[in-house]
Amino acid sequence: MSAAANNHHESVRVEVRGLRKSFGDHEVLRGVSFTVERGEIFVLMGPSGSGKSVLLKHIIGLEEPDAGELLLEGQSIHTEGLRDRYRMAMVFQSGALLNSLTVGENVGLYLREHRLKPEAEIQRVIAEKLDIVGLKGTEEKIPAELSGGMKKRVALARALIIEPQLILYDEPTSELDPLIAITIGQEILALRDRTHATSIVVTHDRDLAFGIADRIAMIAEGEILEIGRPEDVRRSQHPLVRKFLTADFKPKQP
Ligand SMILES: Nc1ncnc2c1ncn2[C@@H]1O[C@H](COP(=O)(O)OP(=O)(O)O)[C@@H](O)[C@H]1O
Ligand SMILES: [Mg+2]
Repeated sequence: MSAAANNHHESVRVEVRGLRKSFGDHEVLRGVSFTVERGEIFVLMGPSGSGKSVLLKHIIGLEEPDAGELLLEGQSIHTEGLRDRYRMAMVFQSGALLNSLTVGENVGLYLREHRLKPEAEIQRVIAEKLDIVGLKGTEEKIPAELSGGMKKRVALARALIIEPQLILYDEPTSELDPLIAITIGQEILALRDRTHATSIVVTHDRDLAFGIADRIAMIAEGEILEIGRPEDVRRSQHPLVRKFLTADFKPKQP
């Protein structure tokens, strides 16, 4: 998560190769491999507890794999200084806004902390990012005044502040009612078109997955069962994929 602006691509290619991770004797990721192309919206879809958030944490560097590799633009993530060369943003499941700060302060936090721009410029950028997510003029509001959908949008605006080349979303529609969830999906599509960033979206929401994905990887119990375009995944004959796609319940997220 860096704001170094010395990379000419607007997006980044991500490769995950043979990733394995256990906590104690619980093997959470059992050799996960996939490649996400520049500018792609790649959805990791799967039930609760399948290892999706753990996988995202590896990509942003909050977890280290037991085995396997992560590459950005073909280079190992352990290459000296590599993470700092790319701008990555994460939109957490909870939105994770700071309640003691206004909306504008939440969005501008990173730029102010790192003194990346003069104050007038920071205020202009905050206004611009809020406008992009449909929250123009809400700078002075406090998070407690906002609906769940609006909080998610503020979290998106905050992610946009570094002009990310890679945006990671963890359950962007959790805890939202279905109609609001649809607007978040539309926002993710619009942001990709606007930023050209690569997007990796982790979700147990089938409607979101099929609504936005260029490709979907279906993950269960730490393994990828199926990977392909939405229409290919929909036709999968894998019994667990069929079960996930046809179950009329939505697994609850912890
Ligand atoms: N830091 C940790 N220590 C121990 N177990 C963990 C840790 N993080 C995740 N797990 C376990 O790994 C499994 C997958 O978790 P997670 O990736 O959060 O699932 P989800 O697909 O719902 O995002 C769960 O059983 C969870 O309890
Ligand atoms: Mg999760």
